[in-house]
Formats: sequence, C-alpha cells, structure tokens
Amino acid sequence: MKVTINQKEFERIIDYNQIKKRIRLIGIQLNVAYEHQHPIFVGVLNGCFMFMADLMKQIHIACEVSFVKLSSYDGSARRDQVTELIGLDVDLEGRDIVIVEDIVDTGNSLKHTLDLVNKQNPASVAVCTLLLKPSAVTHTFDNIAYVGFEIDNAFVVGYGLDYRGLGRTLPDIYKEITS
Ligand code: HPA
Ligand code: MG
Repeated sequence: MKVTINQKEFERIIDYNQIKKRIRLIGIQLNVAYEHQHPIFVGVLNGCFMFMADLMKQIHIACEVSFVKLSSYDGSARRDQVTELIGLDVDLEGRDIVIVEDIVDTGNSLKHTLDLVNKQNPASVAVCTLLLKPSAVTHTFDNIAYVGFEIDNAFVVGYGLDYRGLGRTLPDIYKEITS
C-alpha cells in the first residue's frame, strides 16, 4: 500500500498488527526486567506518542510515566544542537530510567537525551526504541536494550513519525520510495 505526503511517495513496510505483536513482547521483557524496581518511562516527544501509549498498556509493574521534548537552538545554529530537556517533571536522581524513543536514526538526538538524563545521576538508564536504523547510527550506545524493528536507512513515516509535520497519525509505518 502506498501513500503520498507532501508530494513524496511512501510504501508500507510494517503494519499495525506487527507493531502490536512486537510491543506485547517488549512489554513482557520490561515487566520481567523491572519487576522489583519502580522505573520511570521517559518518552521523547513528539514522535514517541503512539508507541508510548501502546507500550504502557503492556506494563503491569509499578512505574511512573513522563515525557520530555528536546529544545534545539534555531536560527543560524544547527538544528540538532540540543540544550535541555523541557517538560521533565520528575527528579531522575537515583532512579531507574527507561527512555522511550520512536526511532534511533543517526543517534544524535538519543546522544543528547542520554547526556541530559545522565547529568541528573539516575541509578540506571536503558533505551527502548520502536525503530533502529543500524546502518545510519554514528555513535556507540551500550544501553539500547529494547528494539522494536531494525530497518533500512530510508526515511519513514507513520505511527507517530512525521515527514514535515505530516503522517504521524498513520497506524502503519511507511518508507520513502526512492527509485
Ligand atoms: N522519519 C521520521 N522522523 C525521523 C526519521 C525518519 O526516518 N529519522 C529521524 N527522525
Ligand atoms: Mg520529525
């Protein structure tokens, strides 16, 4: 199935049923891994909103849920220059943190998020990402413990992910057709 967003064509690569199945398995892993803890799931907005909502329904242990957004410099500065986490309403010190991301692509944004989270001296930090592009990652991470799907290095939309602000509400995930 194909969709067109802002004159760009995309084809479906992962449907919502597959996503739901994968999320159920990740949920089981998290329930086991954090059974005796009281983790804080920290979703990174905007892209995580659908994944976070579906994933949290599978979590049956005591936990807290929070969201952050990265603030980036604008204007002449580089867009990927991130300075702070906005919206974080809990103290992370001494806590077990699970960062929930929609995608780890180059890893730049995850690197910034981890740097900012680690500044608060959490007890542990694990990363749970719906999508990972192994061939695009330019950093070494040792804590990406939960991955929904590894995908090729193509631009994707849907299930929370956008192309120029559009496409986030698609329940399935689509990749750009480059021919
Ligand atoms: N799609 C949407 N948003 C993104 C992507 C992508 O492939 N990579 C990083 N942010
Ligand atoms: Mg985006």
